[in-house]
Amino acid sequence: MEVIRQAGAIRSLVQALRCSGKQIGFVPTMGALHQGHLALLRASAGQNDVTICSIFVNPTQFNNSDDYKLYPRTLTQDIELLEAAGCDYLFAPDQEEIYPQQPLLQFSFGPLEAVMEGEHRPGHFNGVATVVSKLFHIVHPHRAYFGQKDLQQVAIVKQLINGLSFDVELVRYPIVREADGLAMSSRNKRLSPEQREVATSLYKALQLARAQLLQQPVASIKATVAAYLASINQLTPEYFEIAHPDTLQPVAEVRDVQEVALCIAAFVGPVRLIDNILVNLNRL
Ligand code: PAJ
Repeated sequence: MEVIRQAGAIRSLVQALRCSGKQIGFVPTMGALHQGHLALLRASAGQNDVTICSIFVNPTQFNNSDDYKLYPRTLTQDIELLEAAGCDYLFAPDQEEIYPQQPLLQFSFGPLEAVMEGEHRPGHFNGVATVVSKLFHIVHPHRAYFGQKDLQQVAIVKQLINGLSFDVELVRYPIVREADGLAMSSRNKRLSPEQREVATSLYKALQLARAQLLQQPVASIKATVAAYLASINQLTPEYFEIAHPDTLQPVAEVRDVQEVALCIAAFVGPVRLIDNILVNLNRL
């Protein structure tokens, strides 16, 4: 695997690959790679001639400076994992390469960013949209792979692709979990052993809600989940939402829809974690 630091070098590489008829798959990441990222990479390697991964801890999408400073950075180990997963090129730019000047353009995603992550992390999706647009322009892939772990991010990127006519096919990949249900995340590396135990409560809360979907009204499911989360030490819930799987707007009555997304965010100690499950109500 070749590691490339310059945007210009990636551009000419991809141009040449495209001219020779190669299909390019792209997996954008912020590094500290785990099996969730690697599953995306393997999916890309299986569906494209060439797979490019990017690692860039994007400052503009962090609304909390500690979260940015403490975000795990493990480039040497990441490179070994990428080689084993069949990645062909790693694009690992530094900040000046991506942001030669302060970005001033602003994105607006309407109701999609007024809820959940958008509501609780002001500016986050503007930063995501900025960097993803830049990466799409630089890497110019045929297909780009995003995890359902960040369900709202997938919806934002879909809107970005449609809104700006990017010629990229978006592929959504399911959530990869630890054996005890915890969704894999780079931020899990920051959890103490005790907090790591507590972190399983997010998935347990989603399962608890799922079991009640057809029995209880939305308000009482939310109350049950809130009571469960309140009983757990070291856990500070941020939101639990029953949402439409595409628009991510809150669902008032579960019987009105075919599928819902159950979405949760909580702090475990100082670490903010998110998780979600999609539930097809016809199969409950
Ligand atoms: P990062 O958090 O590194 O995630 C990179 C990709 O891996 C995202 O599409 C994310 O949804 C996916 N992913 C993370 N954990 C996963 C899991 N447990 N199972 C499946 N997929 C998982 O998301 C970002 O980086 C950034 O916002 C980025 C898109 C790179 C823009 O900076």
